[in-house]
Amino acid sequence: MTMFNLKSLAYLAALGVVAAHDNGLAITPQMGWNTWNHFGCDISEDTILSAAKALISNNLTALGYNYVVMDDCWHAAARDSATGAPVADPEKFPNGVKDLSDKIHDMGLKFGIYSSAGKYTCGGRFGSLGFEEIDAKTYAEWGVDYLKYDNCFNEGLSGTPQISHDRFANMSRALNATGRPILYSMCNWGEDGPWNFAPTIANSWRISGDILDNFDRFDERCPCTDIIDCKLAGFHCAMARIIDFAAPVGQKARSGGWNDLDMLEVGNGGMTFDEYVTHFSFWSILKSPLILGNDVTNMSNETLEIITNTAIIGLNQDLGSGPANRMWKRTVKEGGDLQLWAMSLSNNRFVIALLNTSPNQQTVDVDFADAFFDQGKTYQQQAYQVSDLWQKDDSGNWGKSVGTIQGGIKNVQIATHQSKIWLAIPAPSSKRAYAEL
Ligand code: GLA
Repeated sequence: MTMFNLKSLAYLAALGVVAAHDNGLAITPQMGWNTWNHFGCDISEDTILSAAKALISNNLTALGYNYVVMDDCWHAAARDSATGAPVADPEKFPNGVKDLSDKIHDMGLKFGIYSSAGKYTCGGRFGSLGFEEIDAKTYAEWGVDYLKYDNCFNEGLSGTPQISHDRFANMSRALNATGRPILYSMCNWGEDGPWNFAPTIANSWRISGDILDNFDRFDERCPCTDIIDCKLAGFHCAMARIIDFAAPVGQKARSGGWNDLDMLEVGNGGMTFDEYVTHFSFWSILKSPLILGNDVTNMSNETLEIITNTAIIGLNQDLGSGPANRMWKRTVKEGGDLQLWAMSLSNNRFVIALLNTSPNQQTVDVDFADAFFDQGKTYQQQAYQVSDLWQKDDSGNWGKSVGTIQGGIKNVQIATHQSKIWLAIPAPSSKRAYAEL
């Protein structure tokens, strides 16, 4: 190996690229649609084909929403008794899964399936524990491009990172052995700290119990207040609680392996417009997979407006950047808090994000000393061209200039449950000043 190669290898290793799951997928977080959040177990070939068509007719595929994922309950009552291979419900899928995936592929999309690293799936269908090889082989024959792999009925095979790792690594190996690139989306709800062991075996890993289509309601079924030492992931985790969960583990995400904050609820009706904007914005800047979970055949203009904000999607899909970091969180006395987040993008561009989870409008000064704390004094002191990514410019493109700003963004009025997402690019004069130093 030449010096150059050694150097670039070291560089890639420093970025975490070499250590990531090496199937070449999820270079940026995966995007698509999944049946579960809206349809639950009530799915059929028609549900999935209609959604695929709607993704195309609404131009969502052009924005990157390419994976169409069939979640739980596609299964027949039992596996094939002779071969042990998985079988789909013949009533819901009269033409079989291969035919369905062919149709999805013919539309230019990719097809995903669901199983569990357990005896049963969470919906009580047959699971893949002990059947990893035949299942992976069958999925590959069916033309599957993506596996969401759950954690229910795992027969007690969890409790340490090693035990969880080994159970999920079995499927990772089986998928790789098929020779077909299959994106591996681990779904063990953050149990045993997957951010520590999943990057080498999976393309993404869920970090928490299931999302609830609600802004911040505390529900005992999602009992943990943080996920690092969480002993029961549960479900009914409100959206803003998942943002809290994600804050410390951003450092573990990298190209090829992402923290999965769970599928989107935008459009499912449990949150206000501002709350869904917050949901979509934070899933984007935290580099979560953006998997729509609404009925895409029937969307309001508001829903479409949110999920088609190309400036926000661009933050999620920016090559070479990691998740945003929380720079501070300040408790508000009426309840909730204010949060400042910052993210470095490629090409010396930055994102500053402000979130108000309190019940009232707040006035906030965003100080560049905080937003650019990681970058040091020069960055804290220089001027930036700042644009608001939830407003459109005169040509109708997302991102409206709010001016050239130095020191901080003062006197920001932020409504309850709202977030502000600004793009900040060093102003030309600052660049000169920096170059002259
Ligand atoms: C678990 C997962 C969900 C969904 C259901 C299906 O709860 O976390 O995302 O896949 O199972 O039963």
